[in-house]
This record gives sequence, structure tokens and C-alpha cells, in this order.
Amino acid sequence: MTQTVRAPSCTPTLPPDLSPVRKDPHVLDARIAAVLPAMDAPFFQAGLAGYSDAAMRLLARRHGCPLCVTEALLDRLLLDGGKGLLKADLHHLARTVPDGAADHPIVGQIIGTQPDSMAAAAGILVDFGYDVIDVNLACPVKKIARKCRGGHFLANPQDAIAVLDAVRRAVPPEIPTSVKLRRGSDDSDESVDHFDTIFNTAYDLGYAWTTVHGRTVSQKYNGPSNWMFLRRLVERHPDKLVFGSGDVWSAHDIFKMIAMTGVQAVSVARGCIGNPWVFRQARELMAGRDPQPPTLTEQRRVLEDHFELCLAEHGPRMAGRLMRKFGIMFSRHHPTPDTVKQQFINVTNPDDWRRVLDDHYNPDSTVSNQSSGS
Ligand SMILES: Cc1cc2nc3c(=O)[nH]c(=O)nc-3n(C[C@H](O)[C@H](O)[C@H](O)COP(=O)(O)O)c2cc1C
Repeated sequence: MTQTVRAPSCTPTLPPDLSPVRKDPHVLDARIAAVLPAMDAPFFQAGLAGYSDAAMRLLARRHGCPLCVTEALLDRLLLDGGKGLLKADLHHLARTVPDGAADHPIVGQIIGTQPDSMAAAAGILVDFGYDVIDVNLACPVKKIARKCRGGHFLANPQDAIAVLDAVRRAVPPEIPTSVKLRRGSDDSDESVDHFDTIFNTAYDLGYAWTTVHGRTVSQKYNGPSNWMFLRRLVERHPDKLVFGSGDVWSAHDIFKMIAMTGVQAVSVARGCIGNPWVFRQARELMAGRDPQPPTLTEQRRVLEDHFELCLAEHGPRMAGRLMRKFGIMFSRHHPTPDTVKQQFINVTNPDDWRRVLDDHYNPDSTVSNQSSGS
């Protein structure tokens, strides 16, 4: 299910002379606190298959992220037990990962095909102590759609509703549920109708919010996220909590999305891979300060912490592979990003990894202790 992450290349679609719909984007909508009191800021770390594990979530939290989503957890893997279950087991993670018990509030996201197995998987996540259960009706990966999961449901509203109904019934009323959507399966009129049906029914069934990615399923990650779609959606549904996703690359983008579309919270996805500082910077903006790029010392500390967490969660072999791809993303903040990226690409084991840190993240070396910005 892992998807390739490319460098930011898109800007969201908005007419240049459009005026904001929210004048106070840094102020949290009171309805969010009513649903999830621990969420004290209008942004969260998205579900990111192959990335948003406990290590990445804990780092995000240390930098001020108030809520994190797991990667999409396949219902069958949860039900079959084994590794798929273990990686979702918050009790296990609390025992094995340093500070793992701090991984709250957390949204457990399920993906699957059949209402009954999705419902059973949701029950497992509830028993593990997840604070919110999210249903993925958005994933555009071909392999997933072929198995009638994720974004497939946006073209099949009655099946989507059956899943949403079964999951909501399986989750105790005091635990909120949410849905991840894209703005449609494609740009057809039929797709717009299907989206509206699923969107409205989710709230009727008792879902607390939807997170809407402003791309269609057929668009995958090509082209911009349609923020005008989000704006019109919120305009039509001022009574509903709608969170936005798509083309959020910086802390400024978080508040720009809220101001220009009216969504009440923003999902930070590719913009936070190798960039936990985006959450600290968002907090700085909320406090009326300029967002500060990470110094080289901070970058080194986070790289070391991430490696330690990753090692505890996945063991040395997997940690080496994972940290290579994270390192590539972290290198964007380094004053000589291309050189450092190449060094991370060549990493095959923990010793290689430490060598990159010693060679390029030593604040006392010739490279100045400042960042190239983020
Ligand atoms: C590598 C990758 C993995 C993703 N995995 C998930 C996932 O497991 N669950 C989910 O809801 N969205 C997933 N997404 C979608 C993101 O959460 C987000 O909606 C999308 O990337 C758009 O936001 P962006 O343009 O700001 O990155 C994934 C995206 C990427 C690039």
C-alpha cells in the first residue's frame, strides 16, 4: 500500500482574488474541543501508509501535533492476528517504544471491503484503546481499488453506507468515528452525486467529521487539490465538521486552507514526512510568532530520536530501510540538501546512517548551524 512521495509540486486551485471565509484561522472551532477535548489546535498528522508509524507519530507530538492518524490498517490483517495486529496494538507499542504510552489521542484508520469484517476490525481498535475510529473510503492505489477497498467505495455509495453503518454500530457511542474521503471518484456528475450521498449519510449515521482530500480517486496524486471544492462544501454544510486535505506543504498552508476554505481542521500529509517541525511552526503561528526553521542541531537530534524510536518499533533490519526513506525527506532541511540526500540514498545499515549524521549533521563542522528553511 506504500505510495511514492514526490517533492511538493502542486499549488491548490483557488482564484487569485478570492477573499478568505475565515478571518481567524488560528482559532480552534469550539465544536472540535466538544468532540475531542485533547485536540487543542486545528491540524493533525494524516494517515500515511508506510510512514505514519508510532515513531513518526511520537515525533510529531513532541513538536506540537495534537492528533495523529495511523496508516490505513487492513481489516483482514487485524482479524488474522500476527504482525498486522501487533503493529496496531497500542499496548504492545506502549511497552516496546520509548514514550509509546504518549501516543494519544490517536485515530485508528481501517480499510477493507466487507461491512462485517470492517466492523470487527473497528472493535479490535476500540479494545486497543484508540480514541477515534476512522474509515478509509479514499485510497486511490490500484491494488486497493481492485479489491473493492478505499476509494472504490466512492463509486459505490450503497456499499459505502453499509460499511459506515456497520462500523458505527460496532463502536461504542462515546468513541467518535470519522471518514476519510476524496472529493469523488472522478469529475463526472454521477461522482458528485455519490460523494454527496456518502458525505451526508456519514453525519446522519453519527460520524463526527469527514476529512476530505480535494483530489479525485482517478486523479491519484496528479494535479492540484481542489480547495474550491472544499470551500463550497463547507459553505453548503456550515453545521458539519469538515477537515481538509491536499497540498499542505507548510505551516502557513495549514492556516491558508482554513482561511480560504473554512474547513475546521487540516490534515498534514506529505508536508510532514521528514518535517515534524511543521507542527512546531504551526504552533508558533498560533502564538503570533514567525515560524522558525530547524537548526542543524535540532535536525540531528530529531534524526537520532527518530532512529531510536524506529529501532525500538521495527528492529534493526527494517529500521535501516525505513530510516533511509525518511532520511531522504529530512535532507530537504539541510544547507546542502542534494549531497545529504545522496548520502541517505546510499544508507544500507545503521552504521551508514550514523556516518551521515557525523559527516553532515555536526554543528561544529564547517557547515553553519542553520537550515536551508522548510
Ligand atoms: C505515501 C502516502 C501514503 C498515504 N497513506 C494514507 C493512508 O494510509 N490513509 C489515508 O487516509 N491517507 C493516506 N494518504 C493520503 C494523505 O493522507 C493525504 O490525504 C494526501 O497525501 C493529500 O495530502 P497532501 O497533498 O498534503 O500530501 C497517503 C498519501 C501518501 C502520499
